[in-house]
Amino acid sequence: MAKRVLVLNGPNLNLLGTREPAIYGSQTLQDIEDLCGTAAAELGLAIDFRQSNHEGELVTWIQDARMSADAILINPAAYSHTSVAIADAIKAVGLPVVEVHLSNIHQREPFRHHSYVSAVAVGVLCGFGALGYKLALQALAEKL
Ligand code: DQA
Repeated sequence: MAKRVLVLNGPNLNLLGTREPAIYGSQTLQDIEDLCGTAAAELGLAIDFRQSNHEGELVTWIQDARMSADAILINPAAYSHTSVAIADAIKAVGLPVVEVHLSNIHQREPFRHHSYVSAVAVGVLCGFGALGYKLALQALAEKL
């Protein structure tokens, strides 16, 4: 059976395409979902692609992944820098997690340099735009 990857996107990523295009590019979240779908098919992975603006909903989805996924790809967006709850949920489920950011968070404001999620992720990709999602799926396919 194909390994299942839950792809989670945090707050404001639903606005990609029009949101600060100089930083995040012109691709929409639908474009990224399509790119992930193509990459997953090539890698033999089954993906479940979601976005939420709500921290608790992301925590619940991570918890539920215990039963429904083999790995998680997450762009926690602004919650990367604030959410102990999301990091705790990732630790609790014990699934391999790759963290992705479209922008290079280390070239940006100091408050973006720290991510609570990085400490509980197997790896982190940032600065590659939408390509980061594809690279993260490749890394998870190898890992699984
Ligand atoms: C982001 C980087 C975060 O700092 C920011 O809050 C986002 C998007 C990225 O993909 O580059 O919303 O995660």
